[in-house]
Amino acid sequence: MSSSSSSSSTPSVLLNTGVQMPILGFGTYKLVGPGDVFQAVDAALVAGYRAFDSAAVYRNEADVGRALKELLPNHGLTREDVFITSKLGPKDQGERAMEGALHSLSQLDLGYIDLYLIHWPGTQGLVVADQHNPGNRAQSWASLEQLHAQGKLRAIGVSNYTPAHMRELMQSCKIPPALLQVEFHPQLGQTELRSVCEEYGVCFQAYSSLGKGELLTDPVVTEVAKNCECTTAQVLLRWAVQQGVPVLPKSSNPDRIKDNAKIFDFKLSDTDMDKLSAMDCGHKYCWDPSQVV
Ligand code: A2P
Repeated sequence: MSSSSSSSSTPSVLLNTGVQMPILGFGTYKLVGPGDVFQAVDAALVAGYRAFDSAAVYRNEADVGRALKELLPNHGLTREDVFITSKLGPKDQGERAMEGALHSLSQLDLGYIDLYLIHWPGTQGLVVADQHNPGNRAQSWASLEQLHAQGKLRAIGVSNYTPAHMRELMQSCKIPPALLQVEFHPQLGQTELRSVCEEYGVCFQAYSSLGKGELLTDPVVTEVAKNCECTTAQVLLRWAVQQGVPVLPKSSNPDRIKDNAKIFDFKLSDTDMDKLSAMDCGHKYCWDPSQVV
């Protein structure tokens, strides 16, 4: 995986499928209902986002698909100009995976999905230590491989996998994952996962770059923001993209959606990058998959 520029102004990363993915994507978690989704997607398109991240569990695939269909022409864009990600819900892990992925496709109704991820290493309804979890993950992956071969899922990957889950997948897959999406911010540097991804040529992507908003008032982040004359959100997002890590900021507020996209016209100094990286203490604000066997 390497960082490069596509024809649009937003830099992109090259996936192991040979496809470029914008390094900045719009996260849609918690955006529900046609009105809110429509407003946020419109603001994101104006601000220059060309990638959108949804999931079956967000219950917004149909609204995201409809909003894009309706809004893209208004912005002089077509389906091919945007990169759409969605994810298989944990309730569909295992023998229901094919049905789950096809349901995402029909909900989004965009012909194909650019990137489809297994959302979680476990299965809804099973305890984390249940020995059926590995078999269910493998079955889901085989279904995603079939849909990839049919061109319905242009790239396939995983989310919330630990280094152990990644190694297990690499040993059994026919098609290697294109991407791993996990929580990543200065307090959670994910050193081991990043080196596993590097070793296997898997793109490492961040979610919750703002630590669910908690890091926006952190004293170190605030000091760096003052130095750079930018917002703390921009510092946190820039810290990731400056390392070549794609980000998915999510906001329901048009001003913040715009603000979060302005991360390509300034650079953090090596000193500021080091100060932020030194915050790593392994802190997770979101789900912890480490106990899922
Ligand atoms: P809102 O939708 O009201 O903007 P994370 O991605 O780390 O999980 O953080 C998401 C949270 O951060 C959301 O609650 C979102 O709330 C908030 N947020 C997103 N961008 C900004 C910003 N630029 N400034 C302040 N809060 C933000």
